[in-house]
Amino acid sequence: MKLSIIGLGKFGSPMAAVMAHKGHTVVGVDVNADFVKAIQEGRPPVREPQLAEMITANRERLSATTNYQEAILATDVTFIIVPTPSEQSGRFSMAYVLKAAESIGAALRKKDWHLVVLSSTVMPGSTETVLKPALERASGKKCGEDFGLCYNPEFIALGSVVRDMLNPDMVLIGESDPRSGAILEELYTGVCESNPKIRRMNYVNAELTKLSVNAFVTTKISYANMLAQVCETLPGADVDVITAAVGCDTRIGAKYFKGALGYGGPCFPRDNRAFSALARDNGAPALLAEATDALNNRQAPRMAEQILAKLPKGGTAGVIGLSYKPYTEVTEQSQGIFIAQKLLEAGVKVIVYDPEAMNNAKRELSGNVTFASSTAEVVRAVDVLAITTPWPEFARITMDDIRNGPVAVVDCWRMLSPEARECVPEYFTLGKGWSAGANARQLAAQAD
Ligand SMILES: NC(=O)c1ccc[n+]([C@@H]2O[C@H](COP(=O)([O-])OP(=O)(O)OC[C@H]3O[C@@H](n4cnc5c(N)ncnc54)[C@H](O)[C@@H]3O)[C@@H](O)[C@H]2O)c1
Repeated sequence: MKLSIIGLGKFGSPMAAVMAHKGHTVVGVDVNADFVKAIQEGRPPVREPQLAEMITANRERLSATTNYQEAILATDVTFIIVPTPSEQSGRFSMAYVLKAAESIGAALRKKDWHLVVLSSTVMPGSTETVLKPALERASGKKCGEDFGLCYNPEFIALGSVVRDMLNPDMVLIGESDPRSGAILEELYTGVCESNPKIRRMNYVNAELTKLSVNAFVTTKISYANMLAQVCETLPGADVDVITAAVGCDTRIGAKYFKGALGYGGPCFPRDNRAFSALARDNGAPALLAEATDALNNRQAPRMAEQILAKLPKGGTAGVIGLSYKPYTEVTEQSQGIFIAQKLLEAGVKVIVYDPEAMNNAKRELSGNVTFASSTAEVVRAVDVLAITTPWPEFARITMDDIRNGPVAVVDCWRMLSPEARECVPEYFTLGKGWSAGANARQLAAQAD
């Protein structure tokens, strides 16, 4: 098929690459001329695993422009993947989508039939009551007859966007008419490698399904985090042992069921808040979504309290892990950033490091903070160390690294090896509590 993709950001550029990789001709459109130039030169506009290789390998089918008309006239299907930022109320703004709709509508005037697909996350009701009338106005045409309109979000996580797009559990399609839904179904049947379930429905059901999936997953994460805190109060309890057993129940499942820090990033927190806002606005109880959010907001202050409790007067705290999850440079709503901010607010000297997110972290952290250039630099320099993102390199911290380092480690993802843990005088396992390393005790006794 010939596809145009409006918005070449964290979601749109991997989408363009994946579609080209599967043999489709793709024209990307972005208002950011640098992103357009990157695609034209065969470079990825954003950092994401597998993206650079996929763009390089498919250059003959992948181009980009800032010109809507050119892209839409040359293609049959147009995906809208522009930002829908959260408003103060928690609802998503349609401002960027409406701007895109004006230009798409103008181009549609020159076409016989075209399929428009909205993939940005929107509030339930937005496709029918906001986008559809805007496109009809701008094009002078009728939706369902002169052009098709679908709502088709993706279930992807930064750091694994390409893999997630190729292997979804489900393809979700809200459709104006059966012809439009069938075109998207055929497209995804050819693109996905996981033989996903395809669910076709009306717009509002698809919009609410998208929000519900993320609101449910965040509830599951907050549940595991609540369980972790309870475990810390019960001698002998270990959240990993319990979640591994509970997750064996197929009604619950093991995915995203690990007691640790809160969820972050550009989707989970705001999707859950949008779900709350929707329920509240419509007079339905939002209790569960609100409790999920409240529990999530407690995680960073809770860990900052543990760190401060062990920090010697005038001591230095270290935070390693500033991206909101591994394999991304994104720091939006990152727990590591929140913890570092809490410590800085408390007047503590802080040293931070992340394998990929240092540039973004420098924009978010200010004051008495040092930006280190390696994990080892932080480990050597601090009195209390917090491990806040499960980057694999943190699991490679050795006994020798840690032996002459911090007096306490707060390990939110249980990353330190058992041998390294034993060398730490005081070790906090999130979901288990504080313990003293046997080797550290021995070393201390020898010193006496
Ligand atoms: N990133 C994710 O993991 C993810 C996952 C699911 C859903 N989403 C949703 O997808 C949407 C886009 O998210 P993103 O993370 O890709 O955002 P992003 O900010 O990374 O990218 C958006 C891109 O759209 C471009 N843009 C803005 N207005 C435009 C216009 N009028 N015409 C052309 N281009 C325009 C921007 O320049 C930018 O490059 C949001 O609604 C988001 O909630 C994102």
